[in-house]
Amino acid sequence: MALLEIPGDLLGAIVNSKNVAALTGAGVSAESGVPTFRGKEGLWRNFRAEGFATPEELATPEAFERDPKLVWEWYDWRRSLIAPLKPNPGHMSLVGFEKRFEQFTLVTQNVDGLHRLAGSADPVEMHGNIWYTRCVDEGTVRENRETPLPRLPPLCPECGGMVRPHIVWFGESLQPSILERAYKAAEEAEVFFIIGTSAVVQPSASLAGIAKNAGAIVVEINLESTPVTGMVDLSLKGPSGVILPKLLKMIESA
Ligand code: OAD
Repeated sequence: MALLEIPGDLLGAIVNSKNVAALTGAGVSAESGVPTFRGKEGLWRNFRAEGFATPEELATPEAFERDPKLVWEWYDWRRSLIAPLKPNPGHMSLVGFEKRFEQFTLVTQNVDGLHRLAGSADPVEMHGNIWYTRCVDEGTVRENRETPLPRLPPLCPECGGMVRPHIVWFGESLQPSILERAYKAAEEAEVFFIIGTSAVVQPSASLAGIAKNAGAIVVEINLESTPVTGMVDLSLKGPSGVILPKLLKMIESA
């Protein structure tokens, strides 16, 4: 297996780090078969919902209020698509990072649950998780893995009211405790990896800059350049399912 081109001092600094964090995006799950959001094959370009000007509008509280069944149909379709998919070597390598470093925080924008399935202990899921529902009236969050859902929109087993996907939609705030963990990870990390994300959705996109300003070595892994590429210490271009296993191997054998 050809090794990655990493300057020796940088690799040495990574190897000797005690506190490491990573932010992942849809690209990490692409090799498992989960569609990304942007780019040619992305969900936001190819999905059309009748009555909505742009597909992104479907991921808003206003859309859910207007047409909960249509919004649920989209999530039901995505849940059915993701259900049979498996974590790929990129996910598995991040579990390896967790074992290798004294402190490792995994922050993800992904809602597919594949990091947990791979074995990551406690990922900070910034945008929620597609396998959980939340009661609109009571706010109770419940795991629900049924695909396809027998009734759309699904109802709360406690109060009979409507439940929604436990996902952060455009225009909504992130859960404060989740944000706090993500910022803390970025502020305290000696090395911060930003992997498979277009780095355009806030506040996640700002985490690499926060880490950099706090003195971290920032390493990006992506197929292409992104808005953060110009400020990272190392840009590794290629599929995360190939790069991450190589990186883990280099770290473990250094
Ligand atoms: P995007 O679809 O915006 O970006 C995916 C990124 O992954 C791109 O930069 C690709 O170049 C890269 N990529 C694709 N395949 C890859 C691979 N095999 N290895 C490495 N990189 C690869 O996805 P996100 O940045 O995650 O929010 O999008 C952020 C948020 O926007 C999502 O969480 C979602 C969306 O609206 C919500 O749904 C709340």
